[in-house]
Amino acid sequence: MLLYFGSKPVIVASSVDATRAIMKTHDFSVGEYWRQIRSVTVLHLLSNKRVQSFRHIREEEISNMIEKIRQESDSSSSAIDLRDHFCSLPNNIISRVALGRKYNERESAINAEVILDEFVELLGTFTVGDYISWLEWVNKIAGLDTKLEKVAKKLDTFLERVIEEHLIRNEKEENHASEAKDFGDVLLEIQNGNDTGFPLQRDSLKALILDNFVAGTDTTYTALEWIMTQLLRHPRAMENLQNEVRGLAQRKAEVTEDDLGNMHYLKAVVKETLSLQPPILLVFPRESTEDINLLGYHIAARSQVIINAWTIGRDPLSWDDPEGSTNLRDS
Ligand code: HEM
Repeated sequence: MLLYFGSKPVIVASSVDATRAIMKTHDFSVGEYWRQIRSVTVLHLLSNKRVQSFRHIREEEISNMIEKIRQESDSSSSAIDLRDHFCSLPNNIISRVALGRKYNERESAINAEVILDEFVELLGTFTVGDYISWLEWVNKIAGLDTKLEKVAKKLDTFLERVIEEHLIRNEKEENHASEAKDFGDVLLEIQNGNDTGFPLQRDSLKALILDNFVAGTDTTYTALEWIMTQLLRHPRAMENLQNEVRGLAQRKAEVTEDDLGNMHYLKAVVKETLSLQPPILLVFPRESTEDINLLGYHIAARSQVIINAWTIGRDPLSWDDPEGSTNLRDS
């Protein structure tokens, strides 16, 4: 679908084929720097080994959440609102993974959650000046520019503090155990050893920490909330999943990540929910750097491209019965 936002051509891709062509074949991107930064993320931050090394953090934070829910249910007979718990869980895990510790605790003068919420809100704000250049002044009048500057400054101060804390800690504990390394440690190490073949500037380091924090929290929390919503809407699916969990729990005190390989129904529930309610409905816009031919269509350079994940999850070409009556797909 071709739209015009002001004078800007905007292509909306709504099929798996178009998405594959955009993400894989043409790799729409903003150049070499982005490609390098992405490879740092894939190889060093989100590699399987690294993700495994944070298992103890996930397990501790999940037990904390279950304990809080247990206490709440013991002290009150009313229904428990899971939203806050689901929101805190990825926040706490990813704070420890990306920033090295939680910053929303009472002892800290900084409330990371508040600063980051302001940032996420601005990320989702439509800026008319980006599309209609002669309306750029609207951003100023609406106070958007001032707000952006204020939040950027707060974020920078916060991320500087995160890095300083890492530097001080690493100086004290020279031989930091590899399993205990968070994203800040890994990135500082890359910066010092510089084995990436390109200089990792301090700004890139801060951007990578922030990017992962923002990319990992809201998405995970939205997915958790939808998964539980779908299960509550579909009691039969809930019962099947409870049976799977109870079957595993019979043999031991608690279900752990080691059991995930045997939790086929859980995986199906997660995948069904991600396809029906993707946490990011419209994947972040990309921009074509040159004229290309995409599935027979001519796409001019500097067109904006948006991928419609919501439609792809319901595409009859990919799903037998996209809105049908099985499992989680009945309404
Ligand atoms: C259910 C959870 C999640 C969903 C649905 C999700 C979804 C997505 C999507 C759709 C993109 C955009 C891909 C693109 O435009 O090429 C993305 C990018 C990204 N995600 Fe996730 N994500 C999730 C969890 C996480 C977590 C837990 C982390 C990190 C701890 C993370 C880190 C990133 C990063 C760094 C990017 C940017 C990659 C790039 O620029 O190429 N995500 N994610």
